[in-house]
Amino acid sequence: MSSPSGARALTTEVADAVRLREGPEAVAQTLRLVGSAGTLTLKDLARAVHLPVPVLAAMRHELEARGVLVRNAGLALSPLGQDLLAELGGPWIPAVCATCGGTGVAIPERYHEVLHALQQLWEQRPSVDVQLDQSFALPESNLRRVLFALDHGAILGKRVLFLGDDDAGSVAVALLARALGSAVTVSALDIDGRVLGYLRDAATAEGLSVDLHEHDAREPLPEDILGRFDTVLTDPPYTVPGLELFLSRALEATGSQPGSQVFLSFGHKSPDEAVQVMASIAGMGLAVTELRPGFNRYEGASVLAGTSDLYHLVTTRDATAAVHGAQQGGIYTGELRPRTRQYVCRACGASYTIGTGQRFPTIEALKAAGCAKCGAHRFDQGRGTRAG
Ligand SMILES: C[S@@+](CC[C@H](N)C(=O)[O-])C[C@H]1O[C@@H](n2cnc3c(N)ncnc32)[C@H](O)[C@@H]1O
Repeated sequence: MSSPSGARALTTEVADAVRLREGPEAVAQTLRLVGSAGTLTLKDLARAVHLPVPVLAAMRHELEARGVLVRNAGLALSPLGQDLLAELGGPWIPAVCATCGGTGVAIPERYHEVLHALQQLWEQRPSVDVQLDQSFALPESNLRRVLFALDHGAILGKRVLFLGDDDAGSVAVALLARALGSAVTVSALDIDGRVLGYLRDAATAEGLSVDLHEHDAREPLPEDILGRFDTVLTDPPYTVPGLELFLSRALEATGSQPGSQVFLSFGHKSPDEAVQVMASIAGMGLAVTELRPGFNRYEGASVLAGTSDLYHLVTTRDATAAVHGAQQGGIYTGELRPRTRQYVCRACGASYTIGTGQRFPTIEALKAAGCAKCGAHRFDQGRGTRAG
């Protein structure tokens, strides 16, 4: 059945105005979600509709300009919006599980002590380095991800590697194994010495054993990692080359044994990119046995809509790395989709361009240096540009 013309014309016009890769259906779904919830914050809506916050903000602007959305303790539909929603089939009662937030993993009371320790640890986390595509998953997500792996028999009695570990998953595994009185060999590899220091301090404070490796995954893995692990958990940089590199290293770390498990956290992609992601995963001989959309929740991470998907991958007999030797070419968002933003000094109005290749690659770097004109450290954001 086709949508009537009013709603169809509006959703197509808005999708075109914001050059939405997901097409008019994402605009229609936005109206359905807002109308069904009554009112939604921009961030909750971004999560529900799986769009980056800046993209959704641009869509909101277009919908407000056309009198479809209004602000009412969040975003709500205007009477015109309600009419359009009726054309689209009308609202429904959301049926997401209230206990697990739709992740499928509830945290049993037995593990609340572990969650508490992770919440305390989270307060000590270093600042994010956006140039490395870092962003911190919330402690609940960290624990849920590890519990998901535990339920798949991938943790206890296993040799577990975290390939990139700003979320301190290795510490979660060690805490959980201790709570269960069981044994686990857990290692973390990361390029960032600050992240490794954070993990080292946490392990020392808790009296846990976590094996740490400072290494750039763009270089071949050290000998003592190759073929040593049963399970790998990884959250690569947010690009397809980043995904292929980290999954290749995961395959090298597990060796050629079929049936090894890889737990991949990766941002939700537009349909076109999702096809590339699936093709890359299948091309490496990895089977996707489960995919949980929006499983991980993050602090900030507006480019990820504040969430990422969790994939359960299993190695087959044909598993082969896509990248051999050193990585050629960029893997980070800032390298492959350079973006600049304007910031204005709150005190004197001096303007700065922030982004890849600029004097200040991040707003954190500008804040630390201070305004070159007046020395102030507070800035407001202007409009940004996105290339690629
Ligand atoms: C790419 S970030 C992703 C962040 C986020 N926790 C997520 O789930 O999407 C994950 C970790 O990979 C690390 N990392 C980034 N580039 C790396 C590289 N070339 N080699 C090793 N680790 C790297 C980061 O320091 C960070 O700790």
